[in-house]
Amino acid sequence: MNLSAHRRALVVAGAALVGLLAGAVPAATAEDAVAAAPDIPVANVKQHLTDLQSIASANGGNRAHGRTGYRASLDFVKAKLDAAGYTTTVQQFTSSGATGYNLIADWPGGDPNQVVMAGSHLDSVTSGPGINDNGSGSAAILETALAVARTGYQPAKHLRFGWWGAEELGLVGSKYYVNNLPAAERAKISGYLNFDMIGSPNPGYFVYDDDPAIEKTFKDHFAGLGVPTEIETEGDGRSDHASFKNAGIPVGGLFTGASRTKTSAQVQKWGGTATAFDRCYHSSCDTTANISDTALDRNSDAIAHAVWTLTGTTTPPTGTVFENTADVSIPDNGAAVTSSVNVTGITGNAPSSLPVAVNIVHTYIGDLQVQLVAPDGTAYTLKAYGTGGSADNINTTYTVNASSEAANGTWLLRVQDNAAIDTGYINSFRLTFP
Ligand code: TRP
Ligand code: ZN
Ligand code: CA
Repeated sequence: MNLSAHRRALVVAGAALVGLLAGAVPAATAEDAVAAAPDIPVANVKQHLTDLQSIASANGGNRAHGRTGYRASLDFVKAKLDAAGYTTTVQQFTSSGATGYNLIADWPGGDPNQVVMAGSHLDSVTSGPGINDNGSGSAAILETALAVARTGYQPAKHLRFGWWGAEELGLVGSKYYVNNLPAAERAKISGYLNFDMIGSPNPGYFVYDDDPAIEKTFKDHFAGLGVPTEIETEGDGRSDHASFKNAGIPVGGLFTGASRTKTSAQVQKWGGTATAFDRCYHSSCDTTANISDTALDRNSDAIAHAVWTLTGTTTPPTGTVFENTADVSIPDNGAAVTSSVNVTGITGNAPSSLPVAVNIVHTYIGDLQVQLVAPDGTAYTLKAYGTGGSADNINTTYTVNASSEAANGTWLLRVQDNAAIDTGYINSFRLTFP
């Protein structure tokens, strides 16, 4: 660990220095052990494909946007996630005059400011049931999500899965999701992993060449299996990761090939034949018969490996920390109180996204107005009175655009309780400068 990056300047108003140092929070270390990912049972993934095939067969032979087979596919996946303890959200949009749906599933817990997402498009084309494209990715991330629940995995980062609608109409669902995320929520996504076609019957093993850390995580897994990989080149930007990449989010993913022909060099490497990776791409024969079990198995395990590895530790904070951990009691329905930190040694202005970590113990946070006050007296409201309802406690890192403020000087956390009965205290207040 780089100690200079973890320099902790504890600055106190008053004499409680000893107690304050004792209360200092140890920084997370990059060396924290990561739990090993479980083996994903390919039989379970295949059962999901069989179920998606049945859904297509019962709905005119496809699971396309705007058709009944799409909504049935979504309801099928959602029911399994709900039963496993996920918090699911169905997001609705309109495309080509039909209602489309994304399914978002959050696994409760983990650092809400560091979110890892895995996603797959759940729609097929109208010409077939879409079992490799993209029942394969949809079923593999579903089984990974269920494995998280089965093993009681508690990731350090927050874990979220997405099943996108209308990918086949031009990445419509994933674009809608990303474009409707508030900028602050977008900034919390530390990585997006995309799985579109991972069981091609004449497979190649392609890894997206985008974020280097994500790419390495996948390559390490295949290296451990002794399976060679290549960089994905069959149309970068042709799947939902492009929606995230365009918003500046680090992305990665896996792919086993679509209509392109496997070269003889690739046949040497991976076996199979010098024909299309998926001869049934976008056609009616993309059924459960159009799957390589080996590719599906290897890629499902690779997904679990990446999900476990990338969520297992939080990224250690960098920068210079100024913190006050002295408790300040907040008088009931009374005057504002403050906790202060004295920032020194920082050149120029504060950053445009200044993390302000606030920890307040209180029995009814709706009573509280919480503000950050810059050295020149400018107040930034972090939480308005009357918001947050009857919940207990605030333990949140707010992001403040403080770029018009000089960094050095005394910064205050100002808290006022505006309603009778419930009370509490400021537990800690922390600013982190880059
Ligand atoms: N997204 C394409 C589809 O659904 C398939 C595809 C083509 C693809 N090239 C790709 C997927 C590259 C991932 C990466 O029809
Ligand atoms: Zn696809
Ligand atoms: Ca009160």
